[in-house]
Amino acid sequence: MALQDYKWINEPEIWKIKDDTLLVETGKNTDFWAGTWYNFYRHSGHFYGRELKGDFTYQACIEAAFSEKYDQAGLMIYLDERNWLKAGIEFNDGQPAISSVLTKDNMSDWATGIFPGFPGKFWLRISKVGNVICVKYSCDKSSWYLLRLCQLPEAESCFVGPMCCTPERSGVKVNFTLHDGKRIEAEAKVGDTLLDVVVNNDLNIEGFGACEGTLTCSTCHVIFKPEDYARLPEEPCDEECDMLDLAYGLTDTSRLGCQITLTRDMDGLEVKVPETINDARS
Ligand code: FES
Repeated sequence: MALQDYKWINEPEIWKIKDDTLLVETGKNTDFWAGTWYNFYRHSGHFYGRELKGDFTYQACIEAAFSEKYDQAGLMIYLDERNWLKAGIEFNDGQPAISSVLTKDNMSDWATGIFPGFPGKFWLRISKVGNVICVKYSCDKSSWYLLRLCQLPEAESCFVGPMCCTPERSGVKVNFTLHDGKRIEAEAKVGDTLLDVVVNNDLNIEGFGACEGTLTCSTCHVIFKPEDYARLPEEPCDEECDMLDLAYGLTDTSRLGCQITLTRDMDGLEVKVPETINDARS
């Protein structure tokens, strides 16, 4: 079955399929957990599964950028909301742990241990024989180690596929400095544009974003520090350059905020808003 035919549980805002690889940017506060110890129930993690009947073996290579406590990526076998197993690497106590969570009748358990290899790339294999589940992991795709042997309830079919969650990860912070020196710290999501950040946080920047991102006004002119400007993932397109030429106070590190899409590594970005805003439509 092609990856395109899998089904999401909690589809993330940002994802795509490239060749036979699923690329996902996790949403904040996402997790799968039921009850035990923590006394909360979360069913907000991202799971992309295909339906399988009978016995099978499913294997995948997982590559992930872990940075926050409880960041996790791996595989999941899912019968229903109350019965599932997830396995993979979870970032815990400042180090990667290889772990599995078995949830039966809406109650989770968690087994975990130190991961011995490079956590940025590893392999997982889930085998199902009857209602017995065997999970193995590998650091190099050649030596495989048992991670979990357990049972799930009998079911006619189940879903299996990649899973990822970031329970503790918060959004991205952006610091705006206004022309009078006033600083405003704003909360944003990965995938927001700087115009989204201004609108969503109701920032009082007069005239900002008058054309609502249709590249016809240049009122969203912002200035970056040279080092931040150099790290922006995309060059301005011709239309943005044309509009920038009409902005007041243009600098070598100017961009239009509606064209800057936030990525995870832009957390803490410093953005200067120039004194005079020019609406190119007037
Ligand atoms: S909001 Fe008008 S050009 Fe960006």
